[in-house]
Amino acid sequence: MATPTDRRTFLAATGAVAGLAAATSVGVSPAAASSGRRRDDDPFTLGIASGDPTADGVVLWTRLAPEPFEPDGGMGRHAVRVEWRVCTDEAMRCEVARGRALAAPELAHSVHVEVAGLEPDREYHYQFRYRRAVSAVGRTRTLPAARSCPAELRFAFVSCQDFASGYYPSYVDIAAQDLGFVLHLGDYVYEGDVDARGGFRDAPVPEPARAAPRTLEQWRYRYSLYKSDPQLQAAHARHPFVVTWDDHEVANDYAGTAAEGQPDLAAVRAAAYQAYFEHQPLRRASIPRPDGGLRLYRGLEFGTLASLSVLDGRQYRTVPAGTWGEGPEVRDPAATMLGREQERWLDGRLQASHARWNVLGNNVMVAGLDHDGPTGDVVWHDSWDGYPVARERLFRSLESSRASNPVFVTGDWHSTFVSDVHRRVERPGDSPVIATEFVGTSVSSNGDREVYGPYYGPMIAYNPQVRFFDGDRRGYVRCTVTPGQWRTELRMTPTVSTPDAPTSTFREFLVEDGRPGAVEV
Ligand SMILES: [Fe+2]
Repeated sequence: MATPTDRRTFLAATGAVAGLAAATSVGVSPAAASSGRRRDDDPFTLGIASGDPTADGVVLWTRLAPEPFEPDGGMGRHAVRVEWRVCTDEAMRCEVARGRALAAPELAHSVHVEVAGLEPDREYHYQFRYRRAVSAVGRTRTLPAARSCPAELRFAFVSCQDFASGYYPSYVDIAAQDLGFVLHLGDYVYEGDVDARGGFRDAPVPEPARAAPRTLEQWRYRYSLYKSDPQLQAAHARHPFVVTWDDHEVANDYAGTAAEGQPDLAAVRAAAYQAYFEHQPLRRASIPRPDGGLRLYRGLEFGTLASLSVLDGRQYRTVPAGTWGEGPEVRDPAATMLGREQERWLDGRLQASHARWNVLGNNVMVAGLDHDGPTGDVVWHDSWDGYPVARERLFRSLESSRASNPVFVTGDWHSTFVSDVHRRVERPGDSPVIATEFVGTSVSSNGDREVYGPYYGPMIAYNPQVRFFDGDRRGYVRCTVTPGQWRTELRMTPTVSTPDAPTSTFREFLVEDGRPGAVEV
C-alpha cells in the first residue's frame, strides 16, 4: 500500500481532505550484522519456518546462509544436502519422518521440504542439520481432517512490517500463543533504501542490505535483513505461516508489471518474486516460472469449520484507469484485481464450499472508503474501490454461491477498520450487508507516529459501513472461530521502539453465524 506520504499527496492533490498532518518519512532499523563467524558454524542465521499446512503435511523451510550479507550467503556455488527430521515431541526423540533435501545456489541454498504422511490436527516438531550444525527445534501443526468438524480454529493475521519503522513486539506475543497458523497478508519487506542505522531501530545495518533492491542479489540481502529479526524468527519457529504478498514486496502500489514512474517492472519483479519464494515456506507449486510469474493464490481447508482462500491481488491486476491516484473513470469491464484465472478459481472454491466460515485472505480493502462525502468522486485506485467492476463480479460470486459467512481479512492500511461489506458498496444506506471485513493494522509500518488517525478520522463520518476505526496503533489480529461465532481481538502494542513492549487486547468484536457484520463486545 501507499505510504502515508503518498496517500496525503494523493488526497491533497484531489483536495479531498484539508489539514492533514505533516508528512513523515519512513525510518529504518538495524539487523544483526554479519559477524565474523566461520563458514558452517551457523548456517541457520535466517531461522527456520514451516508453512502451508494440510491435513497430512506441511512445508519445512530454511536457508543455509552462514554469511547472509555476502554473495551466495557464504555458501559458494555448489549444491549441498540438508538433513531434516520431524518428531512428535519437542525433545526430538519420537521421530516420524526424516529425509535429505537439496540446497542449491540457484535458490540461494534454501530448502522447501514438503512433508507428507502426518496425522491431522496434530502438533509436530522439526529440525534441520547441515554437517555438524543443527538448527533450533521448530514447532508446527497440521490441519484437521477434511471431513472433520473442528470445535475451534485460532489464527492470527498480520501485515506490514517495515523494518526501519520499528521492532516487532507483535511477534513476541504471537510466538506465545496457541494458534493453528499465522496468515501474513503482505508487506513482509519494503523496497526502499534503509539507512546505515536502520531508521527507528538505531542499530547497524549491513551495507549490502541498505540500497533499494533491484537485482536478485539485492533482494536476497533485503530478505536477509528482515529475517535476521529474532522476534520474527521466533514466530516462524513456533507456527506455520501462510503468506501472500502486497505491493512492497516489489514496488509501491504496483499493478502487474507497472508502478507509478516505473512502466516496466518485469525484471525487478521477477527478481523480487524469486527472492520471495526463496525466503518463504511455500510449496513447489509456487516455484518461480521462467516467465517471471509465481503462483501464490491457493486454498486451505480447516475441516468443515473454515475454508481459507489466499488471494494474490498484485500479480495479475490491471493498471488503474486514468492516471495514478486520481480520476473516477474506473468502470472498464476489462479491469481486474485478481486476473480472470484467479477469479474463476475463487468462484469455483466458493461454489463448492461447504465450510461454515469462508475466509478471504485479501490484500487491500474491499468494503470501500468514501474519502470525500456524498457529493465527491475521489477514488483510491489501489484498493478494491479502484476496481468496482471486478468487485461486482466477486460479490456476484459470493451471492450466487451462497457461501456461508464470508469474512475478509485484509492488510495494507496500517490502520484498523472493522466494516460491514454491503452488496452495493457505494450505497451502504440501502443495500444489505453480505460479508464482514477486518482490516488489520501494521506490525511496525508507520512506527510510533500517529499519522492515520488524523488522516482517516475525518472521513469516518461519511462511511457508515465502518463500525470501528483506529489509525494510531500497531499490532496484529487474533481470530477465534467456532461453528456459532467468530471472535476478533485487536492485539495492540503501545510502542514499536523496543521488541519487548507488551501486547494486549485493545478491542473485541463478534460475528454470529448467519449474521454478517461485526459487533463490538
Ligand atoms: Fe504496508
